[in-house]
Amino acid sequence: MADETGIAVVGVSGRMGRLLARQVLATPGATLSGATVRPGHAWIGKDLGEALGGAPLGIVVEDDPLPVFARSQAVLDFTAPAATVAHAELAAQARLVHVIGTTGLERTDLERLAAAARHAVLVRSGNMSVGLNLLTVMTRRVAEALGPDYDIEIVEMHHRDKLDAPSGTALMLGEAAAAGRKVNLADAAERGRDGFTGARADGAIGFASLRGGDIVGEHTVIFAGPGERLSLGHVATDRALFARGAVRAALWGQGKPPGEYTMLDVLDLRDPEAEVPER
Ligand SMILES: NC(=O)c1ccc[n+]([C@@H]2O[C@H](COP(=O)([O-])OP(=O)(O)OC[C@H]3O[C@@H](n4cnc5c(N)ncnc54)[C@H](OP(=O)(O)O)[C@@H]3O)[C@@H](O)[C@H]2O)c1
Repeated sequence: MADETGIAVVGVSGRMGRLLARQVLATPGATLSGATVRPGHAWIGKDLGEALGGAPLGIVVEDDPLPVFARSQAVLDFTAPAATVAHAELAAQARLVHVIGTTGLERTDLERLAAAARHAVLVRSGNMSVGLNLLTVMTRRVAEALGPDYDIEIVEMHHRDKLDAPSGTALMLGEAAAAGRKVNLADAAERGRDGFTGARADGAIGFASLRGGDIVGEHTVIFAGPGERLSLGHVATDRALFARGAVRAALWGQGKPPGEYTMLDVLDLRDPEAEVPER
């Protein structure tokens, strides 16, 4: 239909990819315009519905993103850093709204995404949930209000198959805490303590990553001060939460000027007083 937004899903065989495809199919005003997997994958040439274990959908899984992007207005990308950077260049050429949930991106990856965003709308967030994005806003405010006498520790726990640590969400929270304290996270972050570490550095923002079972995502920001401790937390219980946010971002991005956006823009949570950079 002419007024429907064609949304493609790359990496559709992944944990998030499957949910993203289902979410697009369930969203009024959106059409699933195509789905890709990596070259050599067993799903190539199969009907997506059957590959997902259900009824046929009339959508054939492909390995080349180019023709898929050519018939789409947006692409949802929860894959891996190298794939996401390659997709960004193609999405920019096709002027698609590129919604990126992939985490673990390095500085060089981010530079290439910034270059792509000169030509197209790119919405990237380490966490697409409303609650978690609100938590970043609260974290910045609390860090600012409590000041450096309160030690900040960020604890996260995820399922056993997660590849990167700390999670992209923990880094988002770290960036928010650093913004509240008006410091750079890169200077303040204390990651992976082990052995005789010595006393905690003044002003450090610590990270601890736990892995196990099938946990979708749990994050706690702890402010430990003299005589008291304040904890702000978020628990994700269903990954579909992130898929809903991603589809919302794809629809929100239609018609926006090229540039890099985050879920704070999509959810209209951006604090005019503060810049909270995201991973
Ligand atoms: N922002 C958020 O809200 C949010 C929420 C959840 C997860 N995430 C992030 O999203 C990413 C994916 O998470 P996941 O749990 O879904 O992982 P996953 O199950 O490993 O899925 C990743 C998928 O990407 C595919 N892929 C890799 N390279 C590709 C390429 N060149 N072309 C097409 N597909 C490719 C993988 O295929 P193979 O299996 O064939 O390698 C896999 O199916 C991670 O970075 C995770 O941290 C973000």
